[in-house]
Amino acid sequence: MRDANCFSPRQGPSGEWWSVRPTTGHRIFDSAGATGVNYLTADDRDESLAACAMVRGGPGHRRARPASARGDWHVARHEDGCLIDHHRCQAVQIPTQENAAQTLPVTYDDVASAARMLAGRCHRTPVITSHTMDERCGARVFFKCENLQRAGAFKFRGAYNALMRLPAEQKRRGVVAYSSGNHAQAVALAGQLLRIPALIVMPRDAPPVKAEATRGYGAEILFYERGGESREAIAERLAEERGLAVIPSFDHPHIVAGQGTAAKELIEEAGPLDFLFVPCGGGGLLSGSAIATRRLAPDAKVIGVEPAAGDDATRSFHTRVLHAVKDPDTIADGARTSSLGRITFPLVLQYVNDMVTVTDQELLSAMFYIWERLKLVVEPTGALGAAGLFERKADVRGARVGVILSGGNADLRQLARIERQ
Ligand SMILES: Cc1ncc(COP(=O)(O)O)c(C=O)c1O
Repeated sequence: MRDANCFSPRQGPSGEWWSVRPTTGHRIFDSAGATGVNYLTADDRDESLAACAMVRGGPGHRRARPASARGDWHVARHEDGCLIDHHRCQAVQIPTQENAAQTLPVTYDDVASAARMLAGRCHRTPVITSHTMDERCGARVFFKCENLQRAGAFKFRGAYNALMRLPAEQKRRGVVAYSSGNHAQAVALAGQLLRIPALIVMPRDAPPVKAEATRGYGAEILFYERGGESREAIAERLAEERGLAVIPSFDHPHIVAGQGTAAKELIEEAGPLDFLFVPCGGGGLLSGSAIATRRLAPDAKVIGVEPAAGDDATRSFHTRVLHAVKDPDTIADGARTSSLGRITFPLVLQYVNDMVTVTDQELLSAMFYIWERLKLVVEPTGALGAAGLFERKADVRGARVGVILSGGNADLRQLARIERQ
């Protein structure tokens, strides 16, 4: 069903750009040619992606109206009588060249402030080099080992930064997060260290090892059945009932700023880079890394890498229209998020230089190569950046290249079985 999410833009009579959504015929806009334009992406739970609509633009477009105090929007009718979409929408600001940096919700100062907040609380993970890797890539390669971070992934950085910045009263009441992966463990551990009660909403079929690790950090777990109420809805209901703060896994300024500290440390230690390869799911790590790199190594090209089966961010980046792939079938479980977010999408557009994809096969061979040659356990999602480098998705010959190994929470028995097949 991936074609359902594809758009083929064409230019309209007043120079605006239109796309047609093949399955439903909904018309949408994309960004070409406009300045200072706000976009709407529909929060369409059934079909994972709906329309984008211009709210301020050329003639013939009516402004969409806010539908609630929570910042939701309903899209207005296009004046030529074409109904764009009825879905509940959220506003997304796409930066233009002129307004870009000032209007974005996370800056380098936020990353630097997160770094101060995290000093002494999260590991300053090692940066590893290897002659074998350098020879293989024809470049000088620096691996930032976030697989050795607390709770096994970079996620601890964002979670700790976000929890630490909550008001005192909210810290007392607690937080809720929905995740079956590294974000769950990160929020649980940060909650334990800061004495903030943490509730994690997880699918009942989540791997028992992940549920145990999360419970081991002292979090309460609430299991839900897939196919019923969505986990976001459950988390929001619980937040309302118990007065908890929802901690999203990537689409939050404090999460993005915290994740950016890994690239900051890498560049401080390795020196200026020509390239930085970064795994991408919802884009929290990628946008934070890109913000840090733009300041500390301005000439470096930041390349986001995601699984080919879930190439929503790559298509979103290249078309400047938010695409989604629902439940992509990939071994990279941390990158199964359906799309970039309201905060991360504009940041990725502004600061990232390229987005590329790798197949699961390429990902697995990169992962096993790192296990064998660097003696480092990385999980499939954690090896995305390295796979992008090994598969020569950019011409790095003679360059200084950073790679973020983003996590190491691999199910070794399962992966060893895959290797034997
Ligand atoms: C190990 C690992 N790497 C990368 C990602 C992607 O992070 P983001 O959603 O910030 O893009 C995740 C997300 O869970 C992850 O667990």
